[in-house]
Amino acid sequence: MTQQLRGKVALITGGSSGLGLAAAKRFAAEGASVFITGRRQEELDKAVSQISGDVIAVQADSSSPADLDRLYEIIGLKKGRLDIVFANAGILEKGAIGEITEDSVDRLFDVNVKGIIFTVQKALPLLADGGAILLTSSLVASKGLPANSIYAATKASIRSLARGWMVDLKDRKIRVNTISPGAIETPGLKGGAADSVAAQGMLDHFATLIPAGRVGEPDDIAKVAVFLASENASYINGADIPVDGGWTQV
Ligand SMILES: NC(=O)c1ccc[n+]([C@@H]2O[C@H](COP(=O)([O-])OP(=O)(O)OC[C@H]3O[C@@H](n4cnc5c(N)ncnc54)[C@H](OP(=O)(O)O)[C@@H]3O)[C@@H](O)[C@H]2O)c1
Repeated sequence: MTQQLRGKVALITGGSSGLGLAAAKRFAAEGASVFITGRRQEELDKAVSQISGDVIAVQADSSSPADLDRLYEIIGLKKGRLDIVFANAGILEKGAIGEITEDSVDRLFDVNVKGIIFTVQKALPLLADGGAILLTSSLVASKGLPANSIYAATKASIRSLARGWMVDLKDRKIRVNTISPGAIETPGLKGGAADSVAAQGMLDHFATLIPAGRVGEPDDIAKVAVFLASENASYINGADIPVDGGWTQV
C-alpha cells in the first residue's frame, strides 16, 4: 500500500509520550521524516527507541521562544523544510473555581496557548506552501467538566487560533485543522489522578459515559492525524474533528 506521508517532513511537539508518540510512530510508518520534541531528554530517548523510521528528537520547551528558535534552526539544517506541523504539546492541571492559582493559570496558558502560537508562527519560514498544520484541542473546549475550567479555556482558544490562521495562511494553501480528543489513556491523562487506583477508577468511570463504551487509545488520535496531514484531507480546512467515541455529543 502507498505510504500516505511519503517524503514529507513533520514536526510533532510533545512527541515523546501519549498522543504525540502514537502520531510519531504512525507518521514515520507512513513514510514521513519526523522530528519530535519534549522537555525531558530521557523520555525523548525512550520514544526514539520505539519509533521505526526516520526520527529525530530535539529537546525543546514549547513555551520558550528561544528553544523554538533552536528547534527550527536544527530542522532547517537537517531537512531544509517542513510539510507538517502538529502542535500537540500540552499540559493538564486541575482546579475548581475558588482553588485556581496564578501560577497554574500562567503555566497552562504558557504551554497550551503561547506555546502553540509560537510553535506555529516560528515554523512558517520553513513550512512549505501547501503544508498542513494540526493543533490539539480537547473535548473540554465544548463540555463542562469539574475542576477543568482553565485547562478548558486554553483548549477553547485553540479553536479560534485555527480559524484565524486558516484565513491568514490561505494564500499559501496551508491547511489548519484541530483535533479534539476525548478521554485518551495516556500518561498525561492518568497523571491528573492522585494515584494509579484513582486513575483506573477515573478511566472506568469515563468509559461508562462514552457512547463508544471505552476510553480512547493514543492510536485512535494518531490515525486521524495521519489522515488530516495527508492529501486525503486536501479539502478539509479550519475543521475541528472530535475523536472522542461520541462523548461530546451527549
Ligand atoms: N489524553 C487525553 O485524554 C487528552 C484529551 C484531550 C486533549 N489532550 C491533549 O493532547 C495533548 C497530548 O496529551 P497527552 O495526553 O498525550 O499527554 P502526555 O502523555 O503527558 O504527553 C504530553 C507530551 O507533551 C510534552 N510536553 C509537555 N509540555 C511541554 C512543553 N512545554 N514543551 C514541549 N513539550 C511538552 C511531554 O513531554 P515533557 O513532559 O517531557 O515535556 C509529552 O511528550 C495535550 O495537548 C493534551 O492537552 C489529551
